[in-house]
Amino acid sequence: MTPHERASLRKSLRHARRSLSLREQNDAAVALHNALADQRFFRSAKRLAFYLANDGEIDPSLLFAAALARGQECFLPLLHPCGENRLLFVRYRQGDRLQRNRWGILEPRLQARRRVPARTLDVVLVPLVGFDAQGNRLGMGKGFYDRTFSFRAAARRQRPLLVGLAHECQRVESLERQAWDIRMDRIVSDTANYQPQPI
Ligand SMILES: Nc1ncnc2c1ncn2[C@@H]1O[C@H](COP(=O)(O)OP(=O)(O)OP(=O)(O)O)[C@@H](O)[C@H]1O
Ligand SMILES: [Mg+2]
Repeated sequence: MTPHERASLRKSLRHARRSLSLREQNDAAVALHNALADQRFFRSAKRLAFYLANDGEIDPSLLFAAALARGQECFLPLLHPCGENRLLFVRYRQGDRLQRNRWGILEPRLQARRRVPARTLDVVLVPLVGFDAQGNRLGMGKGFYDRTFSFRAAARRQRPLLVGLAHECQRVESLERQAWDIRMDRIVSDTANYQPQPI
């Protein structure tokens, strides 16, 4: 796949998810919650990372609320302030103030004492633009998640568990994986659950 084809695939998949109605988005968020809230890996995680839905992404906020209510430690990603194109993870507590980053996406404030290393998270819910049933992921094109979790490829670690979340309309038959792309351990959509075989 050429860079141009990749860019045009991103554009059409982003358009598809943004075209979902409010009703479809709400139904998808409920379906996602029902698919995940009682799964053992989700319930038993001590440290869970979420994201705040943007650009038509499937909304994990019901799961976020459930995890907070259960007393699980919840984290949100934050763009690395030094322009390293990596993510930092900061603890979020109910009622914390959020602020917009340079892309207009809400983030927690960077407080050193609330920050944890990415490798100490148990489960990370990962937004995506496109995916295939083999766990390959197409993101927004900056490589943030790939860089942040590159240690998963190097050390063959199983932690944190990377769970891609998507609308089913974001699935494609097959995505060509580039050398730096990190595969998802699972992908959950509003209608299906994909658990690719580990390589
Ligand atoms: N571990 C890494 N080290 C150095 N560069 C990287 C790494 N991971 C990704 N990149 C670079 O980041 C750029 C974007 O990567 P890619 O197209 O895979 O983004 P993406 O997965 O769609 O985005 P994102 O993860 O932010 O949602 C690529 O040019 C790639 O070379
Ligand atoms: Mg990638």
